[in-house]
Amino acid sequence: MEITITRATSQKPIPESSTLGFGRYFTDHMFIMDYEEGNGWHNARIVPYAPLMLDPAAAVFHYAQECFEGLKAYRTDAGRVQLFRPDCNARRLNCTHRRLCIPELPEDDFLHAVKALVEVEQAWVPGAEGTSLYIRPFTIATMARLGVHASSSYQFLIICSPSGAYYAAGLEPIKIYVEDTYVRACPGGTGYIKCGGNYAVSLLAAQKAEADGYSQVLWLDSQERKYVEEVGAMNIFFKVDGKVYTAKADDNDGTVLPGVTRRSIIELLKDWDYEVIEGRLAIGDIMQAAEDGLLEEVFGSGTAAVISPIKQLDYRNQSAFINQGQIGPLTQKLYDTLTGIQWGRLPDPKGWTVPVC
Ligand code: COI
Repeated sequence: MEITITRATSQKPIPESSTLGFGRYFTDHMFIMDYEEGNGWHNARIVPYAPLMLDPAAAVFHYAQECFEGLKAYRTDAGRVQLFRPDCNARRLNCTHRRLCIPELPEDDFLHAVKALVEVEQAWVPGAEGTSLYIRPFTIATMARLGVHASSSYQFLIICSPSGAYYAAGLEPIKIYVEDTYVRACPGGTGYIKCGGNYAVSLLAAQKAEADGYSQVLWLDSQERKYVEEVGAMNIFFKVDGKVYTAKADDNDGTVLPGVTRRSIIELLKDWDYEVIEGRLAIGDIMQAAEDGLLEEVFGSGTAAVISPIKQLDYRNQSAFINQGQIGPLTQKLYDTLTGIQWGRLPDPKGWTVPVC
């Protein structure tokens, strides 16, 4: 894939690291590639960051044929820039594309595009503790037609945003509302892919929970409102009596997103000889374990926040308090190990990091 580069003629000021927040600032350039039936993916280019010109009838606006990925570029202490497992994002994007009838994108092209854009934007990769360049690849259906049908044209884009902590509270343990009315995903649906629709349907529950003083909701399964699935936009882990549980996340089916951080956590835990159970875990059993003093640690995991410790789960009229409101030792160890590898402060024996420049 050849990428043409058109440089921006003026540069935006790069914000102070301490003011970044998450996803509020965008860099000077973006990557775009087009797809048309019969012509495949073509015209890969890096151009100045600018609003898109799309037909108002484009399918993305009406039938939500679109999806996204999320990954980060990290600046190491030596000043170099590296990615974390971008191959996993390339593969997952194609799982998503298949589910949404979007033509697949060669994984090498995805990786090439991410690296090329990050290299152009290297000055935007922040260096302060806990900051990174959040990379947002996404695909949109551009065909102007109101019939409900897979589009015959698409754009694949990548934008970048220098970011700090996802939650303002950082690693501060959060309080969660166990949602037993609304659901995020159902069997046969799209829970296992990264399409915007999954996030749109989550907003109402999150908004209500927030109004009641919670940071996020814990999603239960759609059929029985009994088994735990995800927390907010993250996967979730429970340490109960020494064992670690998380919902099963199938690459090609199911209701739970196969998170890259989730998968890395499971690999680390297995290396450390923890028993990890990927399966169905009932919310009732978790509340009981808390009562019995066996619910040791609970945390969410995702690219944006890395790890988000949970201090309290409220389910119907019962509360589970976890580790006296403190981040648990295993949660902390996982956070330190993952971020240590991501920022190049720890050795990377599994070859998870990919240098850019
Ligand atoms: C992530 O944790 O990377 C997510 O997917 C959250 C994102 C939607 C901001």
